[in-house]
Amino acid sequence: MKGRIPQAFLDDVLARTDLVEIIDSRVPLKKSGQNFSACCPFHNEKTPSFNVNQDKQFFHCFGCGISGNAISFLMEYDRLDFLDAVDDLASKLGLEIPRDASKAEVPGSADLYDLMAEASQYYQQLLRKKSDGGKAIAYLQKRGLSGEVARDFGLGYASEKWDGLLNFLGGSPDRQQKLIDTGMIIKKPDTGKCYDRFRDRVMFPIRDKRGKVVAFGGRVIDQGEPKYLNSPETPIFHKGRELYGLFEARQANRKLQNILIVEGYMDVVALAQFDIRNAVATLGTATNEYHLQQLFRVVNDLIFCFDGDKAGSAAAWKALEIALPLIRGDRLVRFMFLDDGEDPDTLVRAIGKEAFVDLQTQAMPLSQFMFEHLAKDSNLATADGRSSYVARVKKYLEKVTDPVLRELLITELGERVHLSTEQLSNAMDITQTSAVRSRKIHSGKPKTMTPMRMVIGLLVQQPKLAEQVADTDWLEFLNQPGAALLKSMLEMLHKSPHLTTGALIENWRGQDEHQQLMTLASWEHLIVEQDKVVVMFCDAIEKLFIEIRHLRLSDLISKKKQNCLTEKEQLELKQLLSGSI
Ligand code: GTP
Ligand code: MN
Repeated sequence: MKGRIPQAFLDDVLARTDLVEIIDSRVPLKKSGQNFSACCPFHNEKTPSFNVNQDKQFFHCFGCGISGNAISFLMEYDRLDFLDAVDDLASKLGLEIPRDASKAEVPGSADLYDLMAEASQYYQQLLRKKSDGGKAIAYLQKRGLSGEVARDFGLGYASEKWDGLLNFLGGSPDRQQKLIDTGMIIKKPDTGKCYDRFRDRVMFPIRDKRGKVVAFGGRVIDQGEPKYLNSPETPIFHKGRELYGLFEARQANRKLQNILIVEGYMDVVALAQFDIRNAVATLGTATNEYHLQQLFRVVNDLIFCFDGDKAGSAAAWKALEIALPLIRGDRLVRFMFLDDGEDPDTLVRAIGKEAFVDLQTQAMPLSQFMFEHLAKDSNLATADGRSSYVARVKKYLEKVTDPVLRELLITELGERVHLSTEQLSNAMDITQTSAVRSRKIHSGKPKTMTPMRMVIGLLVQQPKLAEQVADTDWLEFLNQPGAALLKSMLEMLHKSPHLTTGALIENWRGQDEHQQLMTLASWEHLIVEQDKVVVMFCDAIEKLFIEIRHLRLSDLISKKKQNCLTEKEQLELKQLLSGSI
């Protein structure tokens, strides 16, 4: 369960973040007047219509209509989900998302993490103590691993006993239940008896990105079935979300340049043994979009390492399909194909570190892999062959969301089939992504400018205007769309007068009003002359106020006709009629 992040924390993160800096490091911005601008990274254009306003901490593209604050930008540009985007900004500031809101937070999960840490210590002890007569250490040595690397990866040993871990950690019924929850012990449904899941195995602790042990992979010593046993899915472990070795790689090198994605636990560890400490492995599953998003948050250069056989090539193609929507001009994805029967572990032992790193630098760029793989079944010597080839490539190019990169790929395709970029672009007619199309519809032109719209529009653009309206109770009587929104905006700004546009809007993420507010925030034409803003704002407020007086007045008058005015209401009516309120 994902808890809500306290609004005060979001306000704080946004207050201390500079949107211009965040965007500029990804899309170089030019100062233009009050704003910064660039060609929009979210749609294809030749002249810049993407604007970033530093005071407002808000971006907007007049071309495709996309807009938002720093969180929205990261969500769109780095394709992060909300929590990851906030986490990204927060960790840059050295802040941690309050614990009750972090993803991992499951009731009682702190205990589960603690138990996993204890289990890992226990297995490491057993390995060191040679309680098995040194069998596990001998096996690891046979595979060429040193004590140092075993320690860095926290390798351990689970004994042959059925109740080793159970006795060591399961001191109370409560702890036993938690061990069941983490999948470390199994309860037999028929007898209710418990026993250790992992027995007589070399243990690989799987750590999450914070370094907490969330699961284990256990390898049989020498031969046996199954070769690997993994922890099941638990409240703190989701197989498709973790990458083996990522925490260790970041520990070994804070400034990783690239990351190598290999298939097995042993590959990661064996490469580390040769001082190649940038390898990660999925946990026996295919690489998914989430994995790549996580990796692209760390580096801009990924190298997939696959077997040269049929299965390896199929897995590589699957990885390419997942990578296509995520690649950009500044992100590199490459593929390294090993000889049949070889894996990184055996290869690095055979050829050594230097030769391995050389191979890594010669890895095949994603584009080359894509063009060549798709060309396999086409005869590019004939016009027919070339046209069916173009059609096939088109399907994949449409998945590339980065417009600059797509242009480059179209150029490269043109060279391969001897067509000009223009001819190709016409033939392929790759249109904007549906996300861009739907934004265009939503960011329509101003509807009629009612006083309410004016007030909200000016307020969202210049939150300081809230100080012009001291009292907000009267808005409750205003029975028209926007009144409740305006009231809560004003109250929020009275409490936190320094909120920027971007931070103010954040309060409505996920609600219907969010898009309306973003649209109003980008209507800069509302403000023709800066020094008239306060007057415009107060005028519009006054109009709203007059509306209320009218409403109230007709209400009271109709009551009077029916002779049911209270004394207080009589006084109010008198005052309203005389214009004193
Ligand atoms: P070694 O055979 O010791 O070199 O290990 P490896 O890591 O190279 O294993 P391999 O290349 O055979 O498999 C790659 C990955 O697939 C492993 O690291 C595991 O994550 C997973 N895997 C392999 N065999 C099994 C298995 O029997 N069960 C499960 N659950 N996963 C497995
Ligand atoms: Mn292997």
